[in-house]
Amino acid sequence: MQVNTIIQGDCIEELKQFPDNSIDLIFADPPYNMQLKNALYRPNNTKVNGVDDEWDKFSSFTEYDDFCAAWLKECRRILKDTGSIWVIGSYHNIFRIGNIMLNLGFWILNDVTWYKTNPMPNFLGTRFTNAIETLLWCSKGEWHKKYTFNHKIMKKYNGGKQMTSVWQIGLCIGDERLKGDGGKKAHSTQKPEELLKRVILSTSKQNDIVLDPFFGTGTTGAVAKKLKRNFIGIEKEPEYIPLAKKRIDAIKVFFPESDWVEEEKERKDRVPFETLLKEKIIKVGEPLYTSKTYSATAFVLSDGKLEYKKQVGSIHRIGALIQQTPSCNGWKFWYIMREDKSVLIDYLRNDYLRNEI
Ligand SMILES: C[S@@+](CC[C@H](N)C(=O)[O-])C[C@H]1O[C@@H](n2cnc3c(N)ncnc32)[C@H](O)[C@@H]1O
Repeated sequence: MQVNTIIQGDCIEELKQFPDNSIDLIFADPPYNMQLKNALYRPNNTKVNGVDDEWDKFSSFTEYDDFCAAWLKECRRILKDTGSIWVIGSYHNIFRIGNIMLNLGFWILNDVTWYKTNPMPNFLGTRFTNAIETLLWCSKGEWHKKYTFNHKIMKKYNGGKQMTSVWQIGLCIGDERLKGDGGKKAHSTQKPEELLKRVILSTSKQNDIVLDPFFGTGTTGAVAKKLKRNFIGIEKEPEYIPLAKKRIDAIKVFFPESDWVEEEKERKDRVPFETLLKEKIIKVGEPLYTSKTYSATAFVLSDGKLEYKKQVGSIHRIGALIQQTPSCNGWKFWYIMREDKSVLIDYLRNDYLRNEI
């Protein structure tokens, strides 16, 4: 599979050529199916440049839904189990797409609101000015929990505060907007780089493969390159391909965030419970307690599993069983006695990591 390339063609046909479980992150900005019937004019009689492109036209909602189901099905097949997908849309299409995604088995992790700080006014004054688009961020399914989410990086990027699901970002204007003949917009729906920066920085790692089946001006490729990720773009309209290629080839400077990594989390995740047994930090047969009051004792088995009332499972599974919850972080649930005090097993793991350095 060639990376850092743009494929010209229909995305449904092209996606079929990709192997199963091969892509780390997908960003899709599909046609909106705006269903525009008439041209729109400003009060001074100048025409509004809306999305009236041929690629946005479908003969019916059914045709649009079938199209979306087909490309989304392929996306799910080629996404790695650890991968995730973002789909952006407006009120015209995002609810239809959300429904299709859920029916295909995707699991919604967040619906992010892109709050446009400079939206286009509602010239006719017939409704509120529409100032948002929605991004659905989904894993492959409810049980695919090992998707990348760079929590710490995004907190750092947000000045030390956890980022919310409302992103205030302006429309793509000024120097960033690619221009064609006569200084006109080269593409009607070019997305701002800041939007893609948050998507790619939060949900992929350096050298991951980021795929965009509706590449347009190549915003996804440009930002992927600036963040030291690989990209693959698919675009049906030949006229946009040289624009995107020129844009990406011209990039010589990376974003400073391109070298940020979630170090601590990754190191911690690599320590399985059995390691503490092997290192003789915890002994076979030792009791674990669910709280400082020593209730619900489980015993450590030689393979790193716990035995609790004849049930055997990992620290996480037995924790979930006791709490009757779908999941449990066993590291933060189980206590063990050390020097006459009960301590969380997570403290022992942290101690081990500190001494290992
Ligand atoms: C909403 S725009 C994406 C804009 C892009 N995110 C950007 O920042 O420039 C959708 C793009 O998908 C392309 N497209 C539409 N149908 C397609 C298909 N079946 N396969 C591949 N590309 C398609 C259109 O030509 C258009 O450039």
